[in-house]
Amino acid sequence: MKTRTLSQDLYTQLEEYIDSIEANDAALIEVLHEAQHLFGYLPMEVQLFIGEKLNIPASKVFGVVSFYSYFTTEPKGKYVINICTGTACFVRNANAIVKEFENTLNIKTGETTGNGMYTIDCLRCVGACGLAPVVMVNEDVYGKVTVDDVQKIIAKYTE
Ligand code: FES
Repeated sequence: MKTRTLSQDLYTQLEEYIDSIEANDAALIEVLHEAQHLFGYLPMEVQLFIGEKLNIPASKVFGVVSFYSYFTTEPKGKYVINICTGTACFVRNANAIVKEFENTLNIKTGETTGNGMYTIDCLRCVGACGLAPVVMVNEDVYGKVTVDDVQKIIAKYTE
């Protein structure tokens, strides 16, 4: 018997979702998407559960999770700060903004603060190049961000 450490309730919800969808080629992606929505990330135990339920080899599940940068195997912070480093943002100093977030929060890109509040990630073009450089905090979008704006942006997300 496998040990599961995450909420049984969430597993039940995921199982109900799996039972409700059609078992076609897109099912794995749909289920991974839903699982990440429910659990916040896709740890190994969740990936194994999905493989078993869909009757798909674990190696295939791992392969899909690692291929798409959207999927994450680490828990993220309450606030995920995504800095666009696509070309238009890059030429308008996005790297300095990344550094300022890293220095202020004392973490590197891809990491989460010890209190679970903030994660820093970089994105490729988010399709708002006219607003470059662009920073997103969860669903909020900030355009024409300067290094001086970094502290002000973080100050909006303290609770
Ligand atoms: S490159 Fe950043 S929005 Fe397009």
